[in-house]
Amino acid sequence: MPALAILGGTPVRTEPYPKWPVFDDRDVEAVARTVRSGRWGGVPFPGPNTAKFSERFAEMMGGGYAVPMVNGTITMEVALRAAGIGWGDEVIVPAYTFQATAAAPMAAGAAPVIVDINPDTYCTDPASVEAAITEKTRAIIVVHLAAQMTDMDAIMAIAEKHNLVVIEDSAHAHGAQWRGMGAGAIGDFGSFSLQSAKTLTTGEGGVLLCKDRKMAERVSSIIDCGRPKDPAGVEFTMGANLRLSEVQAALGLVALERFPAQFEERAAMADYLEEGLSEIPGISLLKRDLRLTRRSLYRYVFKIDAEFFGVTHDLFCQALSAEGIPVDTGYPAMNHYDLFQPALSRLPVPSAFPEYFVFDKMSLPNVERASQVESVWMGESIFRAGTAGIDDLIAGVRKLAENRNELANLYK
Ligand SMILES: Cc1ncc(COP(=O)(O)O)c(C=O)c1O
Repeated sequence: MPALAILGGTPVRTEPYPKWPVFDDRDVEAVARTVRSGRWGGVPFPGPNTAKFSERFAEMMGGGYAVPMVNGTITMEVALRAAGIGWGDEVIVPAYTFQATAAAPMAAGAAPVIVDINPDTYCTDPASVEAAITEKTRAIIVVHLAAQMTDMDAIMAIAEKHNLVVIEDSAHAHGAQWRGMGAGAIGDFGSFSLQSAKTLTTGEGGVLLCKDRKMAERVSSIIDCGRPKDPAGVEFTMGANLRLSEVQAALGLVALERFPAQFEERAAMADYLEEGLSEIPGISLLKRDLRLTRRSLYRYVFKIDAEFFGVTHDLFCQALSAEGIPVDTGYPAMNHYDLFQPALSRLPVPSAFPEYFVFDKMSLPNVERASQVESVWMGESIFRAGTAGIDDLIAGVRKLAENRNELANLYK
């Protein structure tokens, strides 16, 4: 009788991990109140819920001016447009992220220049960023993921030296802190997604955190059909209706109330997980930089030693998922990403500048290794099932380590 569940053995866990998003009567009442108020939409912008949400969001994420909008992709496009970045410009983005990080500059008319990650943190590698700078480079979009943050000291120094705009894609990093500074509040702009899987959600939505008030006015104008937002009311821009609705902002206000306790719970469970995981042979953790003073648990990642287990991460993830622990292999490298297919879309940027999209010539060894061999990704719900949920995860990984001969046989 095989031990591993993928081969017919008994799984470690049969109970599903908790669902997300969680809600209670507060959400229902907040939505009902907004519905009864008759003020559902976002115009005139900002509505009362949106204004309150913006203020509280900025306060909680570490300062600046928060402008809510329809999602966490348009946030980055709008940031670039507000900064005057567009046609013919280059924007540096990491190769390990959701397609949105590269699609946003393209939508703004700029070419994404795809760079490698730091193998210890899986976040944007500052040395690769610096090596990719040309006279056309105007901005860097860094991505904080895997419960890590990009080295913001290095990025800000590079940006200052080369006079570049910094956008922090913080879709995975609500509440994280680098030397006590909030993720998204360090660069010129912080982009947040409020999509339903995220640790702060309004169903769909996004927030752009702007360091500069003037820039926040321009951003607010772009997302409100170009209506002027400067105190004199004269600076019209080109814009569209990209506003968050008052119903979504009502949900956001309740989500912010719940956020700190949920954040602490996940962080405590992640510490507990790492104690257990670090004792298992063949497993290694991403490195924890001491400057990452608070980490945000959205998607957690550890690494496997493929030689020890006799399999790469795809079979490891299938086997662990069969044990009742839902894990996956995470993002492909951007140059292999099915969702990132600019050539198929006849978008202006890839048509005009095909040289930025020659994927098979890109050398991205760190992201290739992470995405094809060693990374094991899991969702935030694993950190909301108490120590019992974490114990099951540890037991599942240990079981795979102890039965790695069975695991390696999966290839046969
Ligand atoms: C890293 C990253 N950036 C941006 C986004 C885009 O967010 P949205 O779906 O709200 O547009 C996501 C969404 O999952 C993401 O994971």
